Amino acid sequence: MIAQETARLFAADGDRFFLVGRHAEKLEAVAEDLRVRGAAQVDTFCLDLTRLDRHEELWQQALSTLGQVDILLIAHGTLPDQQRCQQSVPETLQALNTNFLSVVSLLTLAANYFEARRAGCIAVISSVAGERGRQSNYVYGTAKGAVSLFLQGLRNRLFPAGVAVLTIKPGFVDTPMTAAMEKNRLFASPATVAQGIYRAIRQRKDVVYLPWFWRWIMLIIRLIPERVFKRLRL
Ligand SMILES: NC(=O)c1ccc[n+]([C@@H]2O[C@H](COP(=O)([O-])OP(=O)(O)OC[C@H]3O[C@@H](n4cnc5c(N)ncnc54)[C@H](OP(=O)(O)O)[C@@H]3O)[C@@H](O)[C@H]2O)c1
Repeated sequence: MIAQETARLFAADGDRFFLVGRHAEKLEAVAEDLRVRGAAQVDTFCLDLTRLDRHEELWQQALSTLGQVDILLIAHGTLPDQQRCQQSVPETLQALNTNFLSVVSLLTLAANYFEARRAGCIAVISSVAGERGRQSNYVYGTAKGAVSLFLQGLRNRLFPAGVAVLTIKPGFVDTPMTAAMEKNRLFASPATVAQGIYRAIRQRKDVVYLPWFWRWIMLIIRLIPERVFKRLRL
């Protein structure tokens, strides 16, 4: 949902897209929506991104379709059931596969391309959940924390090549991913978060918290001493 809202903003600029998703029908609906909103070209590639063995093919197809890639936005993810993960090694590994390993695989291919081109922007949706491990979602948090750390290293590596690497850290966003969660005033709309992503990509930012106030919430959360934090029910 966040990806689609972000793509709509780029579509209004007349940009070209190569969309990747695991459900063909949904992909085609998003593609049609972007065409109507002004996209100059929209191609799609249907793939479950945990199929790491097909990432090379995916990347080559994107390059040959678009000719050149200026912006890569990685926005897929799942919110695993923490309780079920605690009882199941396969569920835990599946969550890490989707939210971390598949991202690393895509980034490894893309980074070499952008480094050689000496231009472009890599943007990835991580999460504030990756900033501190909490009992209620530490499997998801681990994957997002690892993604953020990987991006930090990549940013450091690609800076001399003039490639921007953006780490996006949303707080709660009202999307299908959080459909089962009770909503409160901290929830942002996907459109609001998309505006922030669009601006951050255009401004070649390094890290962005969305909405902005999460930067300060997370600062406070990170400052709580571990001997206190471990006693909290978070
Ligand atoms: N919503 C929040 O509160 C929140 C907060 C912080 C960060 N984020 C992050 O923001 C990003 C976007 O999430 P969202 O909130 O927009 O939720 P969403 O609407 O559920 O979007 C997630 C997308 O990822 C796709 N996906 C999941 N596993 C996949 C796989 N193995 N292969 C290919 N595609 C896969 C889903 O496809 P299907 O529709 O086919 O399942 C869905 O389109 C995610 O990285 C999420 O972790 C979300």
